[in-house]
Amino acid sequence: MPPVVDAFGILRLGGASLAELVGALGTPTYVYDVDAMAAEAREVVAAFDDAPHLVAYAVKANTAGCVIRAISAAGCGADIVSGAELRVALACGIAPDRILYSGVAKTDDELDAAIACGPRGIGAIQVESIEEISRIEARAHAAGRRVRASVRVNPSLELHGMTHANIATGHDEAKFGVPRADVPRAIGRIDESPHLELVGLGAHVGSQFTSVAPVVESARALFDFARAARASGRSRSLAFVDTGGGFGIDYGGEGRDALRPSDFVRAVRAEQRRAGVDDLALYVEPGRSLVAAHGVLLARVVQSKVAAAMRWLMIDAGMNDLIRPALYQARHRIVPLESAGAPAKARWRVVGPVCESSDDFGEHLLPDPAPGAVAILDAGAYGYTMASRYNGRQPPVEAFISGGRLVGATRRESVDAWVEERVAAGA
Ligand code: LLP
Repeated sequence: MPPVVDAFGILRLGGASLAELVGALGTPTYVYDVDAMAAEAREVVAAFDDAPHLVAYAVKANTAGCVIRAISAAGCGADIVSGAELRVALACGIAPDRILYSGVAKTDDELDAAIACGPRGIGAIQVESIEEISRIEARAHAAGRRVRASVRVNPSLELHGMTHANIATGHDEAKFGVPRADVPRAIGRIDESPHLELVGLGAHVGSQFTSVAPVVESARALFDFARAARASGRSRSLAFVDTGGGFGIDYGGEGRDALRPSDFVRAVRAEQRRAGVDDLALYVEPGRSLVAAHGVLLARVVQSKVAAAMRWLMIDAGMNDLIRPALYQARHRIVPLESAGAPAKARWRVVGPVCESSDDFGEHLLPDPAPGAVAILDAGAYGYTMASRYNGRQPPVEAFISGGRLVGATRRESVDAWVEERVAAGA
């Protein structure tokens, strides 16, 4: 569940008091309701009923082992984009067969690792260009293995206004996927290789969609390619169509009816039936929609500043901890940890300590005088995983709530370690 305010005005996540966690763990700290994340995953899995499927959780959204293990236990595999993510997914117990690997510039070492694991390598390496096929083929040949591949299709969708330009991936100018016109050639290339087996066709056209239309439209293109490939009498090994992730969440919280991830799955399944290819397994790769709403970033207020017409609230979390507002002009709600007595409110412009004007979380209605600490909501996806050390800042801590209590937390790195490492650089 997203955080709730209890009868005493205390903000709780998964039952735990966030103010108490600030006292115990300091700030900035991400807190995740792991049970709620697992429940999201179960809901997506359930949307498939008995149809063959794989929900490959896009681990880039939140790579914490505790989160990956819980989502895996809920019935999911993993979508990965690097050799490092592959290692984390495997070490968290995800079976190689249930791992899909996307990415436009996989190195030979990364390909070798994906090919070598388990009895048959991972479930599928998703090829993002015709050029990449020869490279994968060479690595497969060297390893003496027949590698399962799927073609990531770029369906050439212009999605103006459907999501932020920085997270659209299925249009002509995007670096991702095999252009529509080249897909038959890519399929043919894989079909004719003794070292490769074409198991799937996939697409991921962007993220944070608040309508099912873009996902359904790209799915339709995939189903058309799948039908044509089969009609050709080749591609006999084709086993799945993977419509990617992109299921959006409601960052606004203003009572709008947000789509559930299962709504996307149902819409795509209906399209699959219409296309007459519902004997193929359907794969999806949700990231954000499983984890975003069930994480918060806790920050303490360092000071306020009233200057000219502005009322600034300076907090100790910045764009290095949560880059989404700076990178995508994203707005995350910010709420106080304690709101007993319903104090007066003021419009505060909430900013972090980083020396960039874009280190700005926007204007928020918050208590006046300012609260001691706040929670930035919907921070369970693309928060910690995109954090940096810019301005000599340490990575934020991550804390995990399950069964109503804190079950684990990472250690805060010392400033000393960073200072020593920087001073020693090049010495
Ligand atoms: N599959 C592939 C191949 C992807 O590239 C992604 C995300 C996903 C699945 C999962 O997409 P999701 O279900 O989370 O939308 N940092 C941005 C989002 C970038 C998404 C990158 N790829 C943000 O914070 O909004």
